[in-house]
Order: sequence, then C-alpha cells, then structure tokens
Amino acid sequence: MVKDLLSISDLGAEELAGLVRFTGEVKHDPGKFRKALEGKKIVMLFEKPSTRTRVSFEAAILDLSGHAINITRNMSQLDRGETPSDSAKVLERYVDAIVARVESHETLKEMAESARVPVINALSDIEHPCQIVSDLYTVYEKSGTLSDIKIAYVGDANNVCNSLMMGCAMSGVSLHVATPKEYAPKKAIIEKSSAYARKTGAKIEVSNDPYKAAENADYIYTDVWVSMGQENDEEKKIKAFQAYQINDTLLSKAKKDAKVMHCLPAHRGMEITGEILDGPRSVVWDQAENRLHAQKAILLKLLRA
Ligand code: CP
Ligand code: NVA
Repeated sequence: MVKDLLSISDLGAEELAGLVRFTGEVKHDPGKFRKALEGKKIVMLFEKPSTRTRVSFEAAILDLSGHAINITRNMSQLDRGETPSDSAKVLERYVDAIVARVESHETLKEMAESARVPVINALSDIEHPCQIVSDLYTVYEKSGTLSDIKIAYVGDANNVCNSLMMGCAMSGVSLHVATPKEYAPKKAIIEKSSAYARKTGAKIEVSNDPYKAAENADYIYTDVWVSMGQENDEEKKIKAFQAYQINDTLLSKAKKDAKVMHCLPAHRGMEITGEILDGPRSVVWDQAENRLHAQKAILLKLLRA
C-alpha cells in the first residue's frame, strides 16, 4: 500500500479495487475492526469547512478505538507562517497519521514529503480521493458490480470531478463529463484518465452536452457549482451552469432505473432539484453514509492496522 493518499491515482488500480472491496468488509463486519487503531492518534487539520469528511473521519477513528486531534489553520501556527513542511516534521513525532483538508494541494505535497507518517487528502483544490473511494463502493453496493457501468457527471469539473474521472477510469467504469466550455476538466486530468481507460476498457468522454452525457447512464452525479473558495465567481458560475441541473428532464434521458449521486453539500434548486434529491432515484444519503465505512478502510490500509 502507498504511504499517502493525496490523489486517487496514488493508488494502483488493484489497490483501489482492494479498498473498495475492503470498504464493504468493514461496513458489514464492524466488530472485527473495533480495536484496530487502539493507541493510534490521528491529527485532522481543516483549512476549510466540512461536515461529512470531518465527522465521518472522527467517527471512524473512534469506532476503531483510535483518537482524533482536530486543528484548523487559524488555531495552528500555519496561519502565522510556519511552513507545512516544518509543521509536518513536528506532527509526525506526535501522531500516526495526518488527515488534511487544504486550500492548496501543494500544502499536502509538502506535508507528505516531510512526514514519515501517512498524509491523507480530505479535499484539496485539485482532488477529493476519499470521496471517490466511497462513491465507487456506493456504485458497487447498488449495482453489484463496477463492470458495464456508465456514470454521467454533470456540473463543475473541480476536485470531486477530477478524482472521479481518474477513479472511474482506473476501475473500468465509463464516465461522461458534461460541463460548460469554460469549466471543462483540465487537459492533464483528461490525459491521465484516458491513459487508465485504455488499460481498463472504460470509456471516458468529455463534452458540453448534459443530455448526451445522461444517455444510457446508470448514475447521474453532480457537485456544487460554486466550490469553497470560489465565492467571488458565484454570479458568473451560476449563470454558466443553468443548463447543467439534475432535474426530471435530464433524468428522463438516462436509463429507466438510473440513480442520482451527489457528494453533498447540495444547493437545492441549483445543481439539483429538491424533488430529485429527496426522491426514490437518489442514493445520496447512502452515499454519504458510506464515507464513514470508506474512511475506516482507508485508515486501516494506510496505517497497516
Ligand atoms: N462531501 C464532502 O466532502 O462533504 P463535506 O464538505 O461536508 O466534508
Ligand atoms: N467541490 C466542492 C466539494 C465539496 C465537498 C468544494 O470544493 O467545495
């Protein structure tokens, strides 16, 4: 197993498949792992708000008999100029792993280079790998397989979409990403995903057509239009994304039994309608629950516990 989880692509395809399977094992036999992190301390550094990631990590650590230490940027010396590297060199002497949600992916890279303990990305401006481990497990749980699955991702090509593109491609899951032209995925992410897809047979498509993306899809997935830190562009983005809402019309283009996913938090009436979010096609609440099980699987594997 790799030392750190900064990008979903840090994992080999086999490691990712193993983590997805292990998430199911942990979910269905929690008693087996009850003492697995006994005596382990994990620092959780959050530079941005979080509900699911923070609480599911802390609950996971407690369920595994470990101890979580929570800090934020402004309650640490990072806010007063201590470098991520110096901070990590010290933290590794106190704790067994560092879980961090950061403004800049570079912070994670610096920490991972300087710390001998695992560094886990709890969301950065570039990726959200823990979300995608959980999402792939959710698809596996609902469909019973990751083969012959098509996901349509409709919305902003940000951190969640980046990890989803690579994670799907690595897992043989086909993905059609539809975004407005000016918010398309970066070339490097498309290239990396396409390279994985060539090996696994997944079809990775990128377009500006949400209806085309939804055609034949087993799942339609979205994320917020305005991510944390993008508030200055809010007005412009909301205008650009109007045609990219998950609503009845879009859902009617997908398979009859297609399900809807959202990493949450949702903005009802923007990227998704409230009716769809609460409706029978939505798997978002199970998807959110699975974050807890996936965090356990990630911690147990990275801490070799
Ligand atoms: N999906 C997700 O990461 O949610 P939070 O921002 O609440 O952690
Ligand atoms: N793209 C969103 C994900 C939130 C979990 C953000 O970065 O705010």
